[in-house]
Amino acid sequence: MMNIQLNNPKLLQYNAYIDGQFLSGNKKDFFTVSNPFSSEIIAKVGNCGTEETELAIAAAKVALESWKILTGIERSSILRKWFELILENQDDLAKILTLEQGKPLAEAKGEIAYGASFIEWFAEEAKRVYGDTIPGHQPNKRILVIKQPVGVVAAITPWNFPNAMITRKVAPALAAGCTIVVKPSELTPLSALALAVLAEEAGIPKGVFNVVTTDKSVAVGQVLTSSSVVKKISFTGSTPVGKILLKQSADTVKKVSMELGGNAPFIVFEDADIDKAVQGAVASKYRNAGQTCVCSNRFFVHQSVCEEFTNKFVAAIKELKVGNGMDEGVTIGPLIEDKAVCFVDDLVKDATERGGQIMHGGKTLDSNPLLYEPTIIGNANSDMKLFSSEIFGPVAPIFSFETEEEVIQLANDTSVGLASYFYGNNHSKIWRVAEALEYGMVGINTGMISTTVAPFGGIKESGSGREGSKYGMDDYLNVKYLCWEI
Ligand code: SIN
Repeated sequence: MMNIQLNNPKLLQYNAYIDGQFLSGNKKDFFTVSNPFSSEIIAKVGNCGTEETELAIAAAKVALESWKILTGIERSSILRKWFELILENQDDLAKILTLEQGKPLAEAKGEIAYGASFIEWFAEEAKRVYGDTIPGHQPNKRILVIKQPVGVVAAITPWNFPNAMITRKVAPALAAGCTIVVKPSELTPLSALALAVLAEEAGIPKGVFNVVTTDKSVAVGQVLTSSSVVKKISFTGSTPVGKILLKQSADTVKKVSMELGGNAPFIVFEDADIDKAVQGAVASKYRNAGQTCVCSNRFFVHQSVCEEFTNKFVAAIKELKVGNGMDEGVTIGPLIEDKAVCFVDDLVKDATERGGQIMHGGKTLDSNPLLYEPTIIGNANSDMKLFSSEIFGPVAPIFSFETEEEVIQLANDTSVGLASYFYGNNHSKIWRVAEALEYGMVGINTGMISTTVAPFGGIKESGSGREGSKYGMDDYLNVKYLCWEI
């Protein structure tokens, strides 16, 4: 097993964190976590089942009573301390993240800062859960609106952002006065457990934040969604799994936030600044080796600038360095597992069979089956599977278009609606296109839209709810109105 050297070795924990304690390990029931670059086992982690999940829910229920009655200022100062501790331990947390997830260390450090920024933001918002007064409908009626925590929350989080997708849910939940049970991905549980170590050190009371580590996702998901104690489910992951969780949550009519799959269009109009568009394309496509829900999935380029854009895009990705995320200068790490490579490879083969032209890449490196070359496919068309599939890998198909009307129709021709991007300089067109795109987020002349201060989320089958920003607390609060007769 890999020996991981950290400045703060206690960040490495191998068992679930429930009711303020890391459970003692059951030597028989554990699952292994591997480094995607070397396949080396880096940890054996305690495997929770339904019993431990019930314990975590019960602990969160008890803790709720004292956590929700703290003032916003009290909760804020504890969250602030957690934020500071995360930044103090940024290097170690990034190392753990890269070892279990594979992304380049510099990107992992960026994720730790991004993740911490949600805690800082919601520590501030904790103080500002304002209500409302409404002029009464009768002379002797006074109407007030107050907001209260929804109660116990369950969060199911993905492997592509093992830190930030947890803090983006936990921070607003805790700020609002809720308690939470998190089930991290079985591929990346160590980052979640390290967050729990620092949460405890920051003074987050026992039972307020629980981490259930497991590879029995179906059974544990069933307990979380069917529990009548759990009042809300927040999930980030694929649309098919989101639909199952939604169905399972229906019987107890839970509040739900679903951050599901995307199929982002990236449109380059004829009046775009092509160099800037290429820069945005590289940033949005190859971040995390293409494994984010907001990565551009389909590049639509006006036919008059298609050749120029393609040539410059190819030249730019030749500069990317594929390899071990722990090595200096590497910009693209491995894909998460074999299944992901097979999926991407199948899409690339299908595209070439249907007339696509590989302009660069198109296969894994001979040295490592999980390292996929940054790839550009020219001459793409809507019959290809990748037109309607979330690629989740470093592959950029380029479609050429002629008119604004045509490209809007193509861009919206998908069941999902998370992120979208376009480049152009005509102001009227910018408004028209921004309003016509059926997406929750639109990047205009930028390929990077993720930030704590803006509402992240999608429409259509990309889900519901918003994370980050002033809107991010709403998902963890119930609105209650008081009608007072005087
Ligand atoms: C995601 O892939 O789910 C999130 C990406 C981001 O926050 O930018």
